[in-house]
Amino acid sequence: MKTTAKLYTQPLSEAVGQQILNVENVNLCDLHEASIINLFKAEGVLLFRDFATSVEIFTSFTNKFSQNFMDYTGGVFNRRIINGDSTVLSVNDFNCEIKLHGEMYYQKNIPLMLWFFCAHPAAQDGETVVCDGKQFFDELSQPLKELFSQKKLKYRGHIGKETWQKQYKTDDVRVVAQICQSNDVDININEDESIDIHYICSAIHPNRSGESMVFINSLLPAKNMSPNSVAFDDGSEIDNEVMLELNEIAAKIAVKICWEKGDILMVDNTRIMHGRRAFVDNTRDIYLRLCSPSFSY
Ligand SMILES: [Fe+2]
Repeated sequence: MKTTAKLYTQPLSEAVGQQILNVENVNLCDLHEASIINLFKAEGVLLFRDFATSVEIFTSFTNKFSQNFMDYTGGVFNRRIINGDSTVLSVNDFNCEIKLHGEMYYQKNIPLMLWFFCAHPAAQDGETVVCDGKQFFDELSQPLKELFSQKKLKYRGHIGKETWQKQYKTDDVRVVAQICQSNDVDININEDESIDIHYICSAIHPNRSGESMVFINSLLPAKNMSPNSVAFDDGSEIDNEVMLELNEIAAKIAVKICWEKGDILMVDNTRIMHGRRAFVDNTRDIYLRLCSPSFSY
């Protein structure tokens, strides 16, 4: 069948994103591809709602727009493999809040694009949140704009053997060293086979056209979950006042995605930060694919 069904859109929020709604009862995979790509390039985040979906449909739909699927080697969370496909993963295995971040910004090789699939929403709470990293940068005070242009972030971790075996999917510490090297991550292997790693990266990045700056990084959740895991690259700590301003901006500009079963979310991981609200309902089940666009961008 020709993929020519028209898109019916509605803003996701005042600031960023569009929803694509199934008004005429069409198949998701019949939507006009070029229109989706153009809208994604303009908006950075798209929500597909009310289409008939399944993990299989999610997989084939995302395959149409993406390549270089990653299996999350080196990632910090435990993720479950879905349907035996190592490129379809559960989001993670705990319920607390995760503050706004760019995915895997603690290493060089990041997925440029993310896809989320709502297999089962939480009965309440557990919303995913997104924000435009360009808007985040624009909201920064002049002193913080200057601070983040002068100093880079230094992510650091001490990882025990059992944990790095899971995280890097290997028993061989030499393989871990290779993976770190290819990601510009500095690694020190200790006598007890634990490792110390660090990675230095700016918190702000020029956008694709180079015309504006984007605040996108893993600072907010890193500082929230493990305060010693991030500092400035000159060794100075990131003080509470800085974190307070960042958390206030995040609270102001975050857009909530109140999941409905079958929703699909398409995210530009070079521009849009994402996070999620806490929840208690353990039936919440959201899947994730990490990849690059297969169209020119
Ligand atoms: Fe994430």
